[in-house]
Amino acid sequence: MQVLITGGAGFIGANLCQSLELAGHSVTVLDNLSTGFESNLDGTKAELIVGSILDTDSLAFASASADAIVHLAARPSVPRSIADPVASHLANATGTLNVLEAARKDGSRHVITAGSSSVYGANPTLPKHSDLATRPVSPYAASKLAAESYTLAYGHSYGLPTLSFRFFNVFGPLQAAGHAYAAVIPAFVDAALRGEPLPVQGDGTQSRDFTYVDTVAAVITDAINRRVTSDDPINLAYGSRTDLLGVIRMLKELTGDDLRVEHGPPRAGDVPHSQADDSQIRSLFGDVVPVPLEIGLKSTVDWMRTVI
Ligand SMILES: NC(=O)c1ccc[n+]([C@@H]2O[C@H](COP(=O)([O-])OP(=O)(O)OC[C@H]3O[C@@H](n4cnc5c(N)ncnc54)[C@H](O)[C@@H]3O)[C@@H](O)[C@H]2O)c1
Repeated sequence: MQVLITGGAGFIGANLCQSLELAGHSVTVLDNLSTGFESNLDGTKAELIVGSILDTDSLAFASASADAIVHLAARPSVPRSIADPVASHLANATGTLNVLEAARKDGSRHVITAGSSSVYGANPTLPKHSDLATRPVSPYAASKLAAESYTLAYGHSYGLPTLSFRFFNVFGPLQAAGHAYAAVIPAFVDAALRGEPLPVQGDGTQSRDFTYVDTVAAVITDAINRRVTSDDPINLAYGSRTDLLGVIRMLKELTGDDLRVEHGPPRAGDVPHSQADDSQIRSLFGDVVPVPLEIGLKSTVDWMRTVI
């Protein structure tokens, strides 16, 4: 199949590109390289089109021969959205609407979109089941909820074959560190390998359902292969919950170093705890075996050693 990955030069997109090619698919990437890198696609055969999902001509050109679209392009990160909410809305909500419109012009296109566990926001119930009320606490979460809502609405209104995932703290190789908006695991691994203090925002007891990127890529590849659709958003995580202090303990064991930690103030828009209800993902994708956190962390450390 010919698969278009929007945002395919980003962290998840480039890992997915490798997985889709291994499964025999051909990949086109549409990416404006705002947070992604052309070099992430080294070793793949993907055709890169440098352009924005906000440019409908680029989108029409990139999607013309696609059988399926995996829509990952977005302006990620909660703090980035707090700094510039309009930019996040444009890329995440309007951009998704543009992708759906491009797909609707040929109603047989399978569209998979990347939503976020951040939509659960202030709802304290654990684990997070997709039937729970959504209560976004950041512009990022609001924009991802809009994107997800549009995806599901296009499925209902136009019969577009759609599948909208909610990702939970994905980590692994190719995830950039060393910038102000870095996610917590690459920020920790980068600091650990450089011998710098690990930056912990808050007391470190906040917990997450960390998901290794190969697991995400395996699920999406399976979804493409079997053209899986759903009327409901699907949590893409497997129901584990680890706090940041726990991640630091694992990193100490992996690196053999006595890591120092530097606590800063808690981050605005962050939720204290997150853990997926995994009943839907396990029943829809029974053949995928998730990679355990310890194994994923080791691969991430091994990869980061090669780029530092
Ligand atoms: N990484 C996570 O833990 C996580 C969690 C929840 C949801 N998500 C979602 O998964 C998707 C991929 O995230 P990621 O972690 O790989 O981030 P990333 O920043 O590495 O990838 C996003 C990609 O989108 C591209 N992009 C941004 N705006 C664009 C535009 N207007 N047109 C074309 N390309 C554009 C960027 O250049 C980048 O390559 C995003 O939709 C994100 O919101 C990620």
